[in-house]
Amino acid sequence: MESTLNVERKRGFPVAIALLISLILCAISLNLEVFLSLTTINSIFWISPAVNHTSQFYVESKAPPVPPRFAYFISGTRGDLEKLWRTLQSLYHPWNYYVVHLELGSTLEERLELASRIDKDPIFNKVQNVLMITKANMVTYRGPTMVSNTLHACAILLKTYKHWDWFINLSASDYPLVTQDDLLHTFSGLKRNLNFIHHTSRLGWTGRAMPLIVDPGIYQNTKSDLFRVSPNRTLPTAFRLFTGSAWTVLSRSFVEYVIWGWDNLPRILLMYYTNFVSSPEGYFQTVICNSPEFVPTVVNDDMHFVSWDYPPKQHPRNLNINDTAKMIASNAPFARKFKRSRDIVLDKIDAELLGRENGSFTPGGWCSGNPPCSEVGNPTELIPGPGAERLTRLLARRVYSAEFTDRQCKVSVSWPLRGNE
Ligand SMILES: *[C@@H]1O[C@H](CO)[C@@H](O)[C@H](O)[C@H]1NC(C)=O
Ligand SMILES: *[C@@H]1O[C@H](CO)[C@@H](O)[C@H](O)[C@H]1NC(C)=O
Ligand SMILES: *[C@@H]1O[C@H](CO)[C@@H](O)[C@H](O)[C@H]1NC(C)=O
Ligand SMILES: *[C@@H]1O[C@H](CO)[C@@H](O)[C@H](O)[C@H]1NC(C)=O
Ligand SMILES: *[C@@H]1O[C@H](CO)[C@@H](O)[C@H](O)[C@H]1NC(C)=O
Repeated sequence: MESTLNVERKRGFPVAIALLISLILCAISLNLEVFLSLTTINSIFWISPAVNHTSQFYVESKAPPVPPRFAYFISGTRGDLEKLWRTLQSLYHPWNYYVVHLELGSTLEERLELASRIDKDPIFNKVQNVLMITKANMVTYRGPTMVSNTLHACAILLKTYKHWDWFINLSASDYPLVTQDDLLHTFSGLKRNLNFIHHTSRLGWTGRAMPLIVDPGIYQNTKSDLFRVSPNRTLPTAFRLFTGSAWTVLSRSFVEYVIWGWDNLPRILLMYYTNFVSSPEGYFQTVICNSPEFVPTVVNDDMHFVSWDYPPKQHPRNLNINDTAKMIASNAPFARKFKRSRDIVLDKIDAELLGRENGSFTPGGWCSGNPPCSEVGNPTELIPGPGAERLTRLLARRVYSAEFTDRQCKVSVSWPLRGNE
């Protein structure tokens, strides 16, 4: 009995080895297959700057990839309720997530009204992807409380919703120039780790880096302005400062890096920027450009059409109907800023670019029911329109070209600090 078992074992041994080897080979080839298909996918959508990949951008695969999801943060202040509501409706898509916030400077009535509208909206109720920060933050203009408010929204979005790919920071004065179907469709072809952060290291603004300010919004529940304290501080030597647009599109991995803080740099820089004027125009820029692992993911664009006076004033111009052609020509997915919630320029954008009816959502492949978009159909069915073509042109220039790497956190290149071009 024992000997037969032994023989069995002895015979079993080589068989087991052969089996193991074939399993390993099998696994390797499977892995290779996965690996190969991944690299082909990557080489279809990913970019070596020297090569013209524009045509490959349109490659239709048999099974369309699952579209990415955007996590929006839309923030407003006193008097912004109607603007914020209109922006939210024009941006809404059941596949995305939305966090809205009216800062503590707004009235309680405005905040209650916003909460009640979100509560009562049948689609929001059904999909459960719109969330309001009811415990409002105090936000001081040009102060670090603007950054902490944005980081608060990032943290809520990370905690509440597990699956999103990009964080987009907007204000109630922003408005989309493309539909969400356009945006989801176009971004489906992008690597999910890209960060759209307009930045420059041009030091024409060291005047901003030396003065120290304090933001009373951090510790007071009444609104007051930033104040200066002295003496000034010197320019930092432990990291290099970058500045740029306060409007960004951030990858989930970068948001996790900034929020979780396993690397101390995002936290140290947050402390540094606490006493910096206009920290929203520098925090994310300085973090990403001083984090070598993220530098290859930066696209130097803020995805916004903004119009400045010449010479630039403190605020960008309010856009009006005469800016429509320039807005469209910019190929940007968002524009700012718009002064009123009821404005013929917004009506024109609704009618000509978004196909949106007054008081309704921007139509898309998800819409069903009568009236349209009163029910949620298939949220991943996208119907991209002309907006997707415009956006593709923008990406061709910023991502699928040599410009992509040429403009990544480069030191002292001279392009305008403000504006899109
Ligand atoms: C890239 O290819 C597209 C389509 O084939 C073409 O329209 C475009 O002009 C090309 N761009 C460059 C820079 O060669
Ligand atoms: C985010 O958006 C708000 C608009 O509500 C803006 O004021 C702020 O500066 C933005 N950027 C950052 C980095 O917080
Ligand atoms: C601090 O820096 C600002 C801007 O560079 C400058 O105007 C001001 O005179 C400086 N103040 C002191 C006390 O050095
Ligand atoms: C737009 O342009 C027209 C013609 O130049 C001018 O009369 C009008 O006042 C402009 N509208 C606004 C809102 O600036
Ligand atoms: C849009 O709807 C609002 C309220 O529902 C109404 O007051 C406004 O006149 C409408 N505007 C247009 C252009 O139809």
